[in-house]
Amino acid sequence: MPDTVRFSNRLNWTAKTNAFSRIIREKEQNGIAVVDLTKSNPTTVGFDVCQQDSESSMSLADVVSYAPEPAGLLPARAAIAAYYRDHAIDVDPAQIIVTASTSEAYSHLFRLLADPGDSVLTPQPSYPLFDYLAALDGLHVAPYRLVYDNSWRIDLVSVQKAISPHTRAMILVNPNNPTGSYIAPAELVAAKNICRHRVPLIVDEVFLDYDLCDTGANRRSLCGDHEDVTFILSGLSKVAALPQMKLSWIVVCGPRPPRERAVAALELINDMYLSASIPVQAAAPTLLAARHAIQSAIRTRLQANLDMLDRALAATAATRRGVQGGWSAVIDLPPVRSDEGWVLHILDNENVTFHPGFLYDFEDDPVVVCSLLTPPADFEHGIQALTRCLPASSPQ
Ligand SMILES: Cc1ncc(COP(=O)(O)O)c(C=O)c1O
Repeated sequence: MPDTVRFSNRLNWTAKTNAFSRIIREKEQNGIAVVDLTKSNPTTVGFDVCQQDSESSMSLADVVSYAPEPAGLLPARAAIAAYYRDHAIDVDPAQIIVTASTSEAYSHLFRLLADPGDSVLTPQPSYPLFDYLAALDGLHVAPYRLVYDNSWRIDLVSVQKAISPHTRAMILVNPNNPTGSYIAPAELVAAKNICRHRVPLIVDEVFLDYDLCDTGANRRSLCGDHEDVTFILSGLSKVAALPQMKLSWIVVCGPRPPRERAVAALELINDMYLSASIPVQAAAPTLLAARHAIQSAIRTRLQANLDMLDRALAATAATRRGVQGGWSAVIDLPPVRSDEGWVLHILDNENVTFHPGFLYDFEDDPVVVCSLLTPPADFEHGIQALTRCLPASSPQ
């Protein structure tokens, strides 16, 4: 029978090159181990998550009855409010909607705020999933630029250019992935001025707690009081380093009447799916309370890998960009080949893999991105391999 089934245009994605995965697969089939400097799944990089076991085990009796609440179970929402209290921010559990993932939270918000054909402002470079999440809800992305000049900043002119009558939301990532830049207070003010009470902000703070100065200086949540309805996203995948738990949330901020209207509409959407499982919601207070130990272990690793990276790059023609937080480092390489060319070159010669900048829509060539979560021995091996591929730096 001919296959005449037509799929929706939402899936008309131009697949980015998968030459990397093909080469890695071929190497592995030939018994060549590839050292992966792109791993960002905290459960596969050697942290002892079992530390949390005894505390987080729950009784089946706690979860056998099913009494869902559209916004999420109250104890889970109260635990999320307590997380913000630890950040000195007062959040009422009634402002919180529990979802299964940040991706689901984005989808709920896209359907709350926009109609098919509308657009959302997205940072560039940033999290590669935005294009796909928007497309799945029939939306366009209108990228605005983050520019680097010893530190990252939002190019406000590009925001002004990207905004249109069809713009329904502006996404801010605080700190951004993979640039590791937090939103500066002046940038928030400027973004709000451009959005002029018409375009709500969606602020993704999944990496909030991973500031790399360890002073907390940058670690400023944008959750709190806002003149307009503003949506703050986060979740256990990064906050508790437990992506398998599938629990995230939206905090709806802003003045009470419009905020309550937004919460009511989000409850309606959430009620159609009720995706966050009851067991994980029941465990949320314990999992969130246990986050401090794993966050501290992760921060120690991020800093140690960053220090190693700086030592290794010191006498080379590569430079690391400034990073305030998050789990990644961005490295500028000499412009003798593209970022894709560099990644293939290092993979071919050294059996080590990095992410090319184009995956995150870096415009300036060539940069590669590595995960600071990588186990230290692999990280050192991979960075030493990178340095062997570099031409000697020119004397100052
Ligand atoms: C900016 C950003 N938001 C969200 C996520 C993923 O969140 P979740 O696992 O809750 O969907 C990631 C994953 O890397 C991310 O980089």
